[in-house]
Amino acid sequence: MSHTNDNQEVMEKIVALCKRRGFVFQGSEIYGGFAGTYDFGPYGVALRKNVVDMWTQSMQDHDNIALLDSSIFTAGRVWEASGHVGGFSDPLVVCNHCHTKHRADHLLELVNVVADEKMTEAQINALFDKHRKKLKCPVCGKKDFGKVSAKNLLATANLGMFEEGDAQVYLRGETAQGIFINYKNVLESGLYSVPFGIAQVGKAFRNEISPRQFLFRKREFEQMEMQYFLHPKDALVEYEKWKKERLAYYDLLGIKKEKLRFKRHDNLVFYAKDAWDIQYEFPFGWNELEGLHYRGDYDLSQHQKFSGVDMSVYDEEMKQRYIPHVIETSVGVDRTMLMVLADAYHEDEMNGEKRVVLHFTPRMAPIKVAVFPLLRNKPNLVQKAREVYTALKKEFIRVQFDDNGNIGKRYRRQDEIGTPFCVTVDFDTIEKDDTVTVRDRDSGKQERVAVKELIIYLQSKIS
Ligand code: GAP
Repeated sequence: MSHTNDNQEVMEKIVALCKRRGFVFQGSEIYGGFAGTYDFGPYGVALRKNVVDMWTQSMQDHDNIALLDSSIFTAGRVWEASGHVGGFSDPLVVCNHCHTKHRADHLLELVNVVADEKMTEAQINALFDKHRKKLKCPVCGKKDFGKVSAKNLLATANLGMFEEGDAQVYLRGETAQGIFINYKNVLESGLYSVPFGIAQVGKAFRNEISPRQFLFRKREFEQMEMQYFLHPKDALVEYEKWKKERLAYYDLLGIKKEKLRFKRHDNLVFYAKDAWDIQYEFPFGWNELEGLHYRGDYDLSQHQKFSGVDMSVYDEEMKQRYIPHVIETSVGVDRTMLMVLADAYHEDEMNGEKRVVLHFTPRMAPIKVAVFPLLRNKPNLVQKAREVYTALKKEFIRVQFDDNGNIGKRYRRQDEIGTPFCVTVDFDTIEKDDTVTVRDRDSGKQERVAVKELIIYLQSKIS
């Protein structure tokens, strides 16, 4: 089997595990599915919360970063000012044979041709025509495409009772614009002064031409973005600091260092002065996980121009007003989840049995501890296990009681959802010494721990 097929197989196994164990389901599945949308089940919600909490905490570690929650529906002028109405598009091309829609730049990448993001429709058509003979439809294999057209990515909505001629309503294409339009409000709240940051977690929507690779490219997704407002003289030093901090951050999520790297953008999007991606080696190859962009004063200047509101601040030293520059870090919750799942996914053999295991770092695990009675039909074992469960739940919240099937089956189930520790109450617990066995997910080793020391023991392993 080729390397590519192996990797495709790993992706399929992750998707299947996510459905089987209740992490992620296809959106609108019972109606045949709705492309580019996914729904999150019980463990998916827990994992998602861990991702968001970790990111939010990392931002709140900075005293000069404020949190924000801006609306999804925004005035159309916001997106005209930001440049998204005019310049936020992907090149669409349709296969004349099977009618599948593709991104022309993705097809060109398959034959090692890079299309500049700034290309006009005419330029990308010329490039596409130059390589047309080599380009095959990945779905039907035919070499028969139409013309390339620029497709705007903003999703639109019908909201309220619109009269003819009313402005178009957009769903936000990035959370960042909610931050730019509130920068003045946060500044005037008096708690912050430049340099300061605003961080936000929230849904974004894009009319992606070809949503693909599971959680990697969705049409409705969630972003975690932070815009740092500063004096232009500090921009380059701060940009380097943020690049370093954001890469180091993934250590806390337990991500393998060798699977992360920086890649500079060859072609800059319309708002960027400099742009680097943190890439992760997904099963389908190296790809963008997070973007770090030096946006200059582009956004605040645009909003000043379109809204008429002065966005400048006064520089005491230079005795002059200036518009702050912006450094942004931007990463998707869904893409982070996919990375965390792919990084943790592993197949091995334990005690002669094959198993699938998610080696989440305990911080990220949706369930921290599972508690079992050795046998489910022995009331004294069940009662004691319930007592242990209740005590642990007060401490760790994400604890699961499991008495379904034999112990081996319970271990397999907990391994598949990535639970780092399983606690079993057995006859020795009750009849002998009030100890339980604690089984480690990764090594399979079991230790006997006194019930009265269990919380401290687990705390030291989990934190
Ligand atoms: N404010 C800058 C911005 O939105 P971006 O590179 O378009 O930049 C930032 O997006 C991050 O958002 C990406 O690195 C990725 O993690 C996530 N993201 C973007 N589009 C996505 C999609 N269609 N599905 C899932 N995540 C997406």
